[in-house]
Amino acid sequence: MAKKTSKYIHEYKWSNIFAMIRNNMRAPNICNDNFRNKLVVITGATSGIGYITARKYAAHGANLLCVNRNPEKSEKLKIEIESEFDVKCDYLIADLSSLNDIFRVSNELSALEQPIDVIIHNAGVYLTKRELTPDGFEKVFAVHYLSSFIMNYILMKKLKAQENARIILVGSEGHRFAAWGLKLDDLNWEKRRFSGLKSYGSAKTAQLLSMIVFKEKFENSGVTINTMHPGAVKTDTGQENGRVYRWFKKNIFDKTLKSPEISAEALYYLGVSKDLEGISGKFFNLTKEEVPAPPALDKEVAFELWDKTLIMTALNELNLKT
Ligand SMILES: NC(=O)c1ccc[n+]([C@@H]2O[C@H](COP(=O)([O-])OP(=O)(O)OC[C@H]3O[C@@H](n4cnc5c(N)ncnc54)[C@H](OP(=O)(O)O)[C@@H]3O)[C@@H](O)[C@H]2O)c1
Repeated sequence: MAKKTSKYIHEYKWSNIFAMIRNNMRAPNICNDNFRNKLVVITGATSGIGYITARKYAAHGANLLCVNRNPEKSEKLKIEIESEFDVKCDYLIADLSSLNDIFRVSNELSALEQPIDVIIHNAGVYLTKRELTPDGFEKVFAVHYLSSFIMNYILMKKLKAQENARIILVGSEGHRFAAWGLKLDDLNWEKRRFSGLKSYGSAKTAQLLSMIVFKEKFENSGVTINTMHPGAVKTDTGQENGRVYRWFKKNIFDKTLKSPEISAEALYYLGVSKDLEGISGKFFNLTKEEVPAPPALDKEVAFELWDKTLIMTALNELNLKT
């Protein structure tokens, strides 16, 4: 049984909140190592953090396989990167809110002959109104959590068979908005009033909880999985929302945000630096290790969510050996 949410109150520590505030002001560690001929998979590379990160890896010689939803933007990115850097930039098209598409690209990735050196689960949305996917899932939960879960799960066998690999979940300090924890009996927001911040916080908390179990599954395999907050940076996020939200974002929030260059620096460091060798199951604010909020550390809920997700997505019916 899941813990009573009120129990988390006693686990919150001011020192962790102050550490987060301090870390929010830090610059990321920089890695200048070469990554030539390595393969990096990035979801949502057509805009914002994913786009700048794709350029960063390409500038250091990595070949890219991007998983994007928009064919025109993907082709433009491919032409831009391949003409500017001496690397390959391929793409797979997938709407990461659709289970069909997520399963299809996951299978395509697991059939690749070459090793995947780094996978960056970056695609994301922020919605102020509840939307359901064609499969009946709340969309923010599907894009952030279900897509990364299914991909990692299906790729487990391939990644374990490689010498090593690094999985990076682009999470968020926003996971703290799910302050009372994940509601396992209402992941689709049918019983509660939907809130953009809380649904985003829940999806990012679910990602952090999945990391706890994936870390165990990948133990001693050479595969690591970590989550990072990419900074509060200026991107195209939130464009699906109404005019009022977009006005505030453009005229108020954006003025306080940093450049996504810091996110890309951090994602390069976490994916490539020798300092991260063998480090798994951690949460980083850019490149500084940090303690996530108590609900994201709840092992019992992590395993309950794991089992529930396998059933929700019918992954349990695949009988994959994990
Ligand atoms: N910006 C911040 O300050 C901040 C802070 C904390 C965490 N994050 C996280 O950083 C990640 C990247 O966000 P961003 O700020 O760079 O936002 P962004 O500029 O809106 O980029 C989001 C990317 O995800 C793609 N995407 C969205 N929905 C998709 C779907 N259903 N299927 C496939 N791809 C989809 C977008 O594709 P299109 O180009 O086709 O729209 C785009 O490439 C997200 O996970 C976000 O939660 C951002």
